[in-house]
Amino acid sequence: MPKPKVYCSHELFEEARKILDATCDVEYWTPAERPAREEVLRRVRDKEGLVCLLTEKVDEGLLRAAPKLRIAANVAVGFDNIDVAACTKRGVVATNTPGVLDETTADFAWTLLMAVARRLGEGEQLARSGNWKGWNLDQLCGADIWGRRWGLWGWADWPGGGAAGVGLQHEVIYTDAVRAPQDAEKPVNATFQDMNTLLAEADFISLHVPLLAETRGLFDTPKFFG
Ligand SMILES: NC(=O)c1ccc[n+]([C@@H]2O[C@H](COP(=O)([O-])OP(=O)(O)OC[C@H]3O[C@@H](n4cnc5c(N)ncnc54)[C@H](O)[C@@H]3O)[C@@H](O)[C@H]2O)c1
Repeated sequence: MPKPKVYCSHELFEEARKILDATCDVEYWTPAERPAREEVLRRVRDKEGLVCLLTEKVDEGLLRAAPKLRIAANVAVGFDNIDVAACTKRGVVATNTPGVLDETTADFAWTLLMAVARRLGEGEQLARSGNWKGWNLDQLCGADIWGRRWGLWGWADWPGGGAAGVGLQHEVIYTDAVRAPQDAEKPVNATFQDMNTLLAEADFISLHVPLLAETRGLFDTPKFFG
């Protein structure tokens, strides 16, 4: 029996590639840039499976172009790029990869907070520019995170209890559409507040809400600096 034909719009990590290649006849997109829409539509024409990224829109147009498609496997936590209703209507299974980057994203929230507080980007630019003239007492001092108050917009249920995890003796205040359970708040010294309190009292604020109609544009420049 011939293997099912699959189009993979990107190269896979070796482990995943081995599994897929063992059972499917896979065509991979290998150039560094993302494939154009027309390219994807052309490639999926005779395929039963599609492995894609969030850069590929799996919508009515793509489903029409791929009449044999049985599955669209999104290598992404979210699925904003997939018209799930259209897939359901045509009996195409849509899958995603929830949870695989939660720890990574929590790490990165910390990385960005540290980078902003400690003015890392400016320091690096200065060092690379060749214009650094030597050390000075108040040079790129930045701000301490130790003992300060971190405001979270969106609790986000990440490992360690909320996006903040266990931090540097800092206090966490957060606002969210849904309050986290108290036994999750306690280990990270977190207190639920409304948005105005968050804006008034936090020393640093980070955003962890999904991009939705009700969150788009809600956190604007006046909120940061007003
Ligand atoms: N988890 C990942 O792998 C990942 C990867 C890249 C980027 N991100 C981004 O990180 C952020 C958090 O992701 P997550 O996976 O932890 O999401 P999540 O769904 O677990 O958490 C989102 C939080 O936002 C809250 N929320 C939703 N709408 C709200 C509103 N209108 N007002 C206030 N709070 C609201 C939810 O109650 C929830 O606590 C998102 O912006 C997401 O796009 C996540």
